[in-house]
Amino acid sequence: MRVFGALIFLLIISPAFAFVAGADGPVLFQEALENGKSTLNCDTSPDTAEDEIMLLVWYKDNESIYSYDARVGTEWCNIGFNASGRVIANMSSNPTTLTISALRDDDQALYHCRVEFLLSPTRNIGVNLTVIVLPSEPFFLDELGNTVTNKTRPYYEGDTLVLTCLVIGGRPPPKITWYSGDTLVDATYSVSDIPNVRQNELYLPLTRDNADTLSCRASNTHLVKPLKANLQIELYLPANNVSIEWIQGNANGNIRSGDTVIVQCIANGSHPIPDITWFLNNKSLSHHNQTWNENLQAVTSRIIITPTRADNNATLKCVAKNPVMPTGRNSKSAAVSLNVTFGPVVHVTRFEDEKNDVIELDILILKCNVEANPPASKIFWYYNDKEIKEDGIRGIRVSSNDLIIDEVRRSDSGQYSCAARNNVGETKSGPINISVFYPPACTKSSVILKKEILICNVKSLPPPDTYFWHINQADYDAQHLTTGSNILSLEQVAGPFSDSLNVSCEADNGIASQDKSCNRIISIGHLKPKQPQQCDLAFEYKEFQIRCLPVENASYYELSLWRLSTTNTSLVLEQKRSLEVGNSLALMQNEEPWLVRGELGLLKAGDEAGAAACNRYGCSAALLLRPTDGLLSAAMPPWWKFFMVKDIGISIGVLLLVVMFVCSTMLAVRLARRSRTKPVPVIQVLQLDDVTRDYLSRTSDIHGIPSCSLRSNSSDYSDDGDSPTFADCHCPRIQQDWIPPPDVTLTLQRESAV
Ligand SMILES: *[C@@H]1O[C@H](CO)[C@@H](O)[C@H](O)[C@H]1NC(C)=O
Ligand SMILES: *[C@@H]1O[C@H](CO)[C@@H](O)[C@H](O)[C@H]1NC(C)=O
Ligand SMILES: *[C@@H]1O[C@H](CO)[C@@H](O)[C@H](O)[C@H]1NC(C)=O
Ligand SMILES: *[C@@H]1O[C@H](CO)[C@@H](O)[C@H](O)[C@H]1NC(C)=O
Ligand SMILES: *[C@@H]1O[C@H](CO)[C@@H](O)[C@H](O)[C@H]1NC(C)=O
Ligand SMILES: *[C@@H]1O[C@H](CO)[C@@H](O)[C@H](O)[C@H]1NC(C)=O
Ligand SMILES: *[C@@H]1O[C@H](CO)[C@@H](O)[C@H](O)[C@H]1NC(C)=O
Ligand SMILES: *[C@@H]1O[C@H](CO)[C@@H](O)[C@H](O)[C@H]1NC(C)=O
Ligand SMILES: *[C@@H]1O[C@H](CO)[C@@H](O)[C@H](O)[C@H]1NC(C)=O
Ligand SMILES: *[C@@H]1O[C@H](CO)[C@@H](O)[C@H](O)[C@H]1NC(C)=O
Ligand SMILES: *[C@@H]1O[C@H](CO)[C@@H](O)[C@H](O)[C@H]1NC(C)=O
Ligand SMILES: *[C@@H]1O[C@H](CO)[C@@H](O)[C@H](O)[C@H]1NC(C)=O
Repeated sequence: MRVFGALIFLLIISPAFAFVAGADGPVLFQEALENGKSTLNCDTSPDTAEDEIMLLVWYKDNESIYSYDARVGTEWCNIGFNASGRVIANMSSNPTTLTISALRDDDQALYHCRVEFLLSPTRNIGVNLTVIVLPSEPFFLDELGNTVTNKTRPYYEGDTLVLTCLVIGGRPPPKITWYSGDTLVDATYSVSDIPNVRQNELYLPLTRDNADTLSCRASNTHLVKPLKANLQIELYLPANNVSIEWIQGNANGNIRSGDTVIVQCIANGSHPIPDITWFLNNKSLSHHNQTWNENLQAVTSRIIITPTRADNNATLKCVAKNPVMPTGRNSKSAAVSLNVTFGPVVHVTRFEDEKNDVIELDILILKCNVEANPPASKIFWYYNDKEIKEDGIRGIRVSSNDLIIDEVRRSDSGQYSCAARNNVGETKSGPINISVFYPPACTKSSVILKKEILICNVKSLPPPDTYFWHINQADYDAQHLTTGSNILSLEQVAGPFSDSLNVSCEADNGIASQDKSCNRIISIGHLKPKQPQQCDLAFEYKEFQIRCLPVENASYYELSLWRLSTTNTSLVLEQKRSLEVGNSLALMQNEEPWLVRGELGLLKAGDEAGAAACNRYGCSAALLLRPTDGLLSAAMPPWWKFFMVKDIGISIGVLLLVVMFVCSTMLAVRLARRSRTKPVPVIQVLQLDDVTRDYLSRTSDIHGIPSCSLRSNSSDYSDDGDSPTFADCHCPRIQQDWIPPPDVTLTLQRESAV
């Protein structure tokens, strides 16, 4: 025991005790942070139960810093090492511990404990304690050496980011690494030009995918997390993903015309937040909402639109435009095509033709122009609002949207319309008027005469624009005339005229020539004036005159004198001349002729004077008058004058001869009248009106007596229908009511023997 006591004492007082790692005992490796604490363990338990610990000593680099004498239970500690009481020993724990707090840079050393036992050999255990000194926080410098905090300057995609991460101090020297998000992008650190500073220079081509937060990490121990500094990359990006969604009112992907729909555009991936604009067929739309949607990390914009039929197939486009980026690479868009369904819009047109007319027997093709979405499923055709059925015999077909009539008839003229149907609705078009043109053809009435106008009656479409006339009369040359309308005035036809005209006309409407001309024999006898009805004979200015009231439509009068022929005792035409109305022989009143007077020269007993009214169509039958005895005697010179001029014997002879002649003449005339065929005389009633009478009465050299005679039965010379005044004439009434003035002699005409 004494020996041990001396040894222990020696050990305690010996300040240094060499320890060779490995040879003298095992060495444990132990790390601790500067300012932290570390616990050094030493196993002091004896190997056998009989043994016991005598002494424990701790050394730092061969220098003793702590000892414990188990025999007396005393401990000793190096005061310098235990400055500020940072060392705590626990001899009751197993293993025994020596805990050092507030570790200093110089606490890094090779420690070892040495345990002396009563029986067992000395035990040595080494602890290699490393004290970690953390470096400074990392910081950033750009290419120009300026510090960068929190956020880089703006970059565009594709630019290369150049940044240096720097760290001051640290033991052991720290590793400096760059991370993009959680991805290691650069671990190549090096020593800086600046002492005690280490750095990592980063070259990073920027893409949308590595635009996450950048971080620089510095690490020299596992005891704590690496020191880290973050940096936001300011990377300007156009929108990455723009999409259009229907929010409301787009059932089955299509829109009914007039419906209101809400559309949303979502744009993400743009930095900074883009401006969203809408276009419908390149036309900008206003009134939209733009909001930031936190859930989607995207910008949304909604718009309300009410598309119409015109917007079918239109492109609805949403453009997300980054306001800070140069044009050309700043925007991204999405587009959808609108499928706007609407009921058919229909109108009919003529196929390959703008005109609405067609020539008979040509083909007629009508086109039903349908605009509809979805396309029309059925087309209907209507003629005058009645549905048209296909008819193979008639050649009526419906082919796709066309109506085809192979040989159109004139009865096919009318209004055509078509209707179309799709699942939205059915619409009928407005009508198109189709006229079927056909060549002129005579109607039943063909050619008619109305007053003095010839009318050619043809049917045609379009109406004819030219009429060709051919006028034929027996004994005259044919006349050919052309008119622009269907009437031809007879005034245009050259005279003279016979009683009937053979008229033919042909019309032309530019479609085709008339197949058969219209022919008609037209009687124009009635265009002649009526027979003069009110005439008388007078002896004035020493000659006979015939005086008539003018006849309507007469343009001149023909006066004739019939004299009894000495050879064949028949009345023969002695003279005939024409008397123009308007010459001095027609007496005028207020520019209207009211009395026509013609000179006859001398009349003899048995003569008959005739007056016929004429115009360009010919003359009426003559009204024949015979001088009365009174008139004849008025024309006779006085008998004594007769004697003065002639020898009496001769005169008597002559007188006898005259008497005989008169007798035989009268006889002959009676006979001749029977056999004579022309002209058939008329019993004339002269019924002068008051004006005439007044005129005559005031004319001193007119002598006459009112004539009154019975009317002839001959119808050839009178107009049955147009002379009621004569039929109503009552001679007795005239004789009773009207007594001529004494100096006026009126002819009494008497019908010669009939
Ligand atoms: C402790 O002593 C050993 C043996 O003599 C020697 O090898 C070692 O270097 C010494 N340690 C120190 C820190 O002096
Ligand atoms: C170190 O010093 C403190 C205070 O002076 C003391 O309480 C402690 O016991 C000492 N440590 C040792 C191992 O002696
Ligand atoms: C020493 O260690 C023992 C066992 O681990 C423990 O119970 C005791 O409280 C410790 N003493 C001190 C002063 O820490
Ligand atoms: C102690 O640890 C340090 C660092 O790891 C090392 O350099 C040194 O050689 C070690 N000493 C011994 C004696 O093992
Ligand atoms: C960097 O970010 C920190 C923390 O977020 C903030 O306190 C500081 O003001 C920012 N610095 C700059 C220059 O923005
Ligand atoms: C865009 O986003 C939609 C969903 O919002 C997705 O289906 C689509 O694949 C994305 N396209 C691209 C190019 O990212
Ligand atoms: C855009 O949004 C879609 C879905 O909302 C998402 O899948 C996609 O990753 C986003 N793109 C970007 C670049 O944010
Ligand atoms: C919209 O504009 C583009 C480019 O100018 C052009 O190609 C396209 O035809 C236009 N679309 C319409 C519907 O006008
Ligand atoms: C736009 O925003 C207003 C108010 O935030 C809202 O009342 C309106 O309905 C929105 N319009 C659309 C199309 O979402
Ligand atoms: C709409 O587009 C479809 C498909 O591209 C095409 O068949 C149709 O003719 C278009 N309609 C109109 C009205 O342009
Ligand atoms: C539009 O919608 C109608 C009705 O659903 C459909 O029949 C038609 O095929 C659609 N058109 C296009 C071009 O998608
Ligand atoms: C078509 O004919 C009808 C009846 O004949 C007529 O009322 C309408 O005005 C005509 N329309 C045209 C454009 O000629």
